[in-house]
Amino acid sequence: MENHLRVGVIGAGTMGAGIAQVAAQTGHPVVLYDTRNGAVEHALNALSGTLEKLVAKGKFTRPEADALLSRITPASTLDGLSGCGLTVEAIVEDLAIKKQLFAALEEATAPGTILASNTSSLAITAIASACKQPERVIGLHFFNPAPLMPLVEVVPGLLTSPTLPADCVELMRAWGKVPVICKDTPGFIVNRVARPFYGDSLRIFEEGIADMAGIDHALKSEGGFRMGPFELMDLIGNDINLAVTRSVWEAMFFDPRYKPSLTQQRQVESGRLGRKTGRGYFDHTDPASTAVPNMDPAFARSITERVLAMLINEAADALFLGVATKEDLDLAMIKGVNYPKGLLAWADEQGAAHWVEVLNALQADYGEDRYRASLLLRRMARAGAAFSAGGEEPGVN
Ligand code: NAI
Repeated sequence: MENHLRVGVIGAGTMGAGIAQVAAQTGHPVVLYDTRNGAVEHALNALSGTLEKLVAKGKFTRPEADALLSRITPASTLDGLSGCGLTVEAIVEDLAIKKQLFAALEEATAPGTILASNTSSLAITAIASACKQPERVIGLHFFNPAPLMPLVEVVPGLLTSPTLPADCVELMRAWGKVPVICKDTPGFIVNRVARPFYGDSLRIFEEGIADMAGIDHALKSEGGFRMGPFELMDLIGNDINLAVTRSVWEAMFFDPRYKPSLTQQRQVESGRLGRKTGRGYFDHTDPASTAVPNMDPAFARSITERVLAMLINEAADALFLGVATKEDLDLAMIKGVNYPKGLLAWADEQGAAHWVEVLNALQADYGEDRYRASLLLRRMARAGAAFSAGGEEPGVN
């Protein structure tokens, strides 16, 4: 398989190495660049090891693996990316450094080259502001590990060329990915809509309603989630998870819906970050710490319902604010974080009125703006409308 579009990948760390692999697997010649000495060689050696295992498992033939690897060449300067039609940036998550890179990339590449960023928390519009041609800058947000996770959020900035998102969607499909288009808003789709899964579970724990293993058990048994919130935070790393929450909260001008948790902050301060340090909320060397509790299913359902109401509210509000289409909102949560169902489809099972009732009860109980029901959900409840009905929801922007 050959594909003539040359792809430049900047940053040969976790994400850059994975993105380079995906592009080379599709047949593109790939140029990989990193400022850290030995980073590209390290990434290529690791990829060679991975391919070796895949050949042994029969997932690749030896010639396929060799061809894939030979398509990736290192570049020692940014000028080595001059022949690229697309560059994907996956360097450190720092706006000033990314802006500097994009200004340099614009000089190093031809005017038609697409300049993509894999940022998970910075605004594409802000990154593009460093360029004379911001119309060629776009977000292509892959999920970790990039070769395995199907979702890619395609994020046009305010000044991105209007035809570029559709071109990127087509390209990502050719790479075997599931692309969704979303507005340049904090957390894009997944990192925004998923916040209550962690945030409200942490509050349920803080309020002494259930312990961590119990909350995990409830969401898995009654919600059908593959992992509970606490084991998932331990897998992601509590430092990373807290940083994402904090960045969405700050970028949303401190909306209380996204407020971080002191419990998680202390956890990070303790150094027990999760699996990567051997211990997080759970001791991963001791099976007793994640033991499944004996919990009344009705009680498990009530915990689950609270978290689900907040997730559905977040998805409905994202739809209301035009962050993405309802199809893409649902697809993103299934393909990006393995949710058992799309949240808007899930909302329809009991109907908007049910979720508004749950949220109103929480808001009345706590007296907090955090639990306010999205205007869209309330309008849908009044109209008796369903997300799956097709057509426009009442009053979507
Ligand atoms: P990483 O730390 O594994 O790799 C970053 C690489 O960029 C390093 O090898 C570093 O030497 C290199 N680098 C730093 N500054 C550079 C520069 N000016 N020019 C060239 N190379 C430079 O980081 P990771 O995890 O791969 O993240 C990269 C980007 O992807 C970040 O923007 C992050 O937010 C985003 N992202 C990360 C995900 C994850 O789960 N790790 C998921 C999705 C997006």
